[in-house]
Amino acid sequence: MDGMILTHIIGWGLGLLLFFFALVLYSEKKVKQATIPHMILRLDYLLILYTGFVLLWRYFDASGSSFTVQAVIKGIAGLIVIVCMEMILVKLKKEKSAKAWWIIFFIALVITLLLGFGILPMGFLP
Ligand code: HEM
Repeated sequence: MDGMILTHIIGWGLGLLLFFFALVLYSEKKVKQATIPHMILRLDYLLILYTGFVLLWRYFDASGSSFTVQAVIKGIAGLIVIVCMEMILVKLKKEKSAKAWWIIFFIALVITLLLGFGILPMGFLP
């Protein structure tokens, strides 16, 4: 457990929270208010990406790690989660259906959490 993992977890934890706030406000048609959590979320994407890539880099540095493939898949799934959050909010803002993005969001989120907490060795849990 180190600072980079902790910052990564704070990053996506905060991200999910901001996503939820923006989601509720957009669905209540409070577009102006929703812009605030949405903008902070966009900055937070950068934090998630930065910490995610630094963590991923460790797997390439430690060449021969038996988890490199799983870490790459985790990174791709994490990227998809970010893309889905952004697409869902933009669709909602335009009052369009985000159904397909929601399905992808949940699948990618489950894969990300399972690989992150359940399989990959750094950080909490395993
Ligand atoms: C919203 C998006 C994301 C979520 C929900 C997420 C979630 C997680 C979780 C739950 C962990 C495990 C923490 C722990 O074991 O204590 C983790 C670690 C990690 N994440 Fe992410 N992540 C996201 C985005 C990304 C991105 C974009 C990348 C890379 C491009 C990435 C790369 C990694 C790596 C390499 C680890 C270290 C895995 C380990 O060794 O335990 N993540 N993330």
